[in-house]
Amino acid sequence: MDIAIVGPGAIGSLLIYTLNNAGIVPDVYVRDEGRLRHIRSVGGLRIVIRDEEVNLKANLKLPSDTSKTYDVVLVAVKAYDVEGALKTVSKVLRGDGLVLSFQNGIGPLELMERTFGYNRAGAAVITYGLFRYEYVTFLQGFGEVLIGQRSSNIHEDLHKVIDILSNGGLKVRYVDDIDRYRWYKLLINAGINPITAILQAPNKVIIESPEARELAIKTVNEGLKVVNKLGIELPGNPIEGLLNVAKKTGENYSSMLQDIVNNRETEIDYINGVIVKKGKELGIETPINTLLVSIIKGLVRWRKSLFQQ
Ligand SMILES: NC(=O)c1ccc[n+]([C@@H]2O[C@H](COP(=O)([O-])OP(=O)(O)OC[C@H]3O[C@@H](n4cnc5c(N)ncnc54)[C@H](OP(=O)(O)O)[C@@H]3O)[C@@H](O)[C@H]2O)c1
Repeated sequence: MDIAIVGPGAIGSLLIYTLNNAGIVPDVYVRDEGRLRHIRSVGGLRIVIRDEEVNLKANLKLPSDTSKTYDVVLVAVKAYDVEGALKTVSKVLRGDGLVLSFQNGIGPLELMERTFGYNRAGAAVITYGLFRYEYVTFLQGFGEVLIGQRSSNIHEDLHKVIDILSNGGLKVRYVDDIDRYRWYKLLINAGINPITAILQAPNKVIIESPEARELAIKTVNEGLKVVNKLGIELPGNPIEGLLNVAKKTGENYSSMLQDIVNNRETEIDYINGVIVKKGKELGIETPINTLLVSIIKGLVRWRKSLFQQ
């Protein structure tokens, strides 16, 4: 089976590492020529797992290189970059091929379903924790990867991909109700990400600061009202999930905080923004999530204006 990855970042590196372990050197699409040169100039992509640094084997490719097509494309870019990444996927995914979304939040899978068809798009929910500095990725916490499709007509390659990733050592399993897990993770991210980003604090602030904890719980509870109205049965209690994740990843800095500090866009629209949007559609008020979205967007805009001066 021919597999390609779009995005040589943290998740992309974990996928390359896994495929290398399964005896596969994948083709990996990078954003542009400048990035390609940069990766080569620093000696390629690397991952650090349990203090051991591993050089990753990948054929780096530019979006303009459409000489080969693939059965499966794994999309490992941030949610706000998915639209751009899908331009590459459209050119290199075979007519009946499968595309998998590795993003947090709600939106990227839906876009892939609209672009390629319901039964040709699937999603992975990842609870591994990774941190990236330039092109070195550090595995901070082991977790698992749940993969599934919303279509009842499962793509014939889905289980093959899961088997390959599993052979490569990833803790991965198929779930037939991926939406429950996507929303469960969304609620936990909604409670941790914006609050740690605003407070500029590691995840343990949600446990150690009573004010932060109360705000995070209220944020999740607002989202829970939306989830209940949507009729989605979560795989666990999201408040317990929130506190467990904040405790377990206490020393980590959330991806949203890292995005803010590095003057990048954030995934707020795909996390708290989704709670706000769905809340509006369903007639549920979401004042706390609305406020958090505004603060994060304001922070991004402000830091961008400082950075661009
Ligand atoms: N990191 C984690 O622990 C973790 C855990 C669970 C879920 N996730 C989710 O996984 C997704 C990916 O996160 P990440 O941490 O891997 O992000 P990341 O480290 O920033 O990696 C994304 C990579 O995609 C590249 N990219 C962007 N647009 C592209 C395009 N059109 N073509 C090719 N490459 C492109 C980026 O390039 P540039 O560097 O040039 O921007 C970057 O190298 C996010 O939705 C995140 O929420 C992450």
